[in-house]
Amino acid sequence: MSDTLTIALSKGRILKETLPLIAAAGIEPLEDISKSRKLIFDTTDSRVKLIIIRATDVPTYVQYGGADMGVTGKDVLMEHGAEGLYEPLDLKISQCRLMTAAKTDAKPVKGRLKVATKFVNLAKQYYAGQGIQADIIKLYGAMELAPILGLADEIVDIVDTGNTLKANGLEPRELIHNISSRLVVNRASMKMKHHHIQSIIDQLAEKVR
Ligand code: ATP
Ligand code: PRP
Ligand code: MG
Repeated sequence: MSDTLTIALSKGRILKETLPLIAAAGIEPLEDISKSRKLIFDTTDSRVKLIIIRATDVPTYVQYGGADMGVTGKDVLMEHGAEGLYEPLDLKISQCRLMTAAKTDAKPVKGRLKVATKFVNLAKQYYAGQGIQADIIKLYGAMELAPILGLADEIVDIVDTGNTLKANGLEPRELIHNISSRLVVNRASMKMKHHHIQSIIDQLAEKVR
């Protein structure tokens, strides 16, 4: 078993907020990630490597042990499922809300509701829990377009400032979950590399607090 630790970071908005946190644990990439085409980086801690992947791939890499630990949004974790993952820390970064939204002038829907989202599992769970019959349409982005073009009555998406909804004639409706980014750890790594991983968790927890 190698004594190297691989940490999977989400590219995009989470990365910028994650780097100062891991720097507090003595882990800094040896080159500027934003200026490189590389996907794997050595760090100031010779025992730690960083990989930079899409937020939605982080649970998969950590679950199968391709990475020992990772950082991604709670929305992504809930949609993916928590099998093989341990979630020891809320990093309190990239905070936002998972909400339903609809056109501001939307009329009440008769019959089954059409819902467009990239969070298919979470949407199914949510509407079933409300006793609402919904047909879920999977999209990969720009969900806000779906109600405008008549593809859906509602969307389930991330809301932060609400500017994107407003700019597209939509309004937030129901809150499904408050979201922030979380540290996740592979369950086997947590046992095999306990001392190293626990020391990183403790330093991150101290910085978050
Ligand atoms: P990709 O661009 O690869 O399709 P993505 O859209 O999920 O993935 P980001 O936009 O960087 O990538 O979002 C990553 C995470 O950041 C989300 O899973 C969510 O937890 C959080 N997030 C998304 N949008 C916002 C926002 N507008 N404000 C704050 N946090 C957000
Ligand atoms: C995210 C999300 C919303 C928007 C919400 O999109 O999917 O569209 O941010 O933020 P706001 O409430 O502050 O406007 P993002 O910018 O990540 O684009 P994406 O569709 O490429 O994910
Ligand atoms: Mg996004």
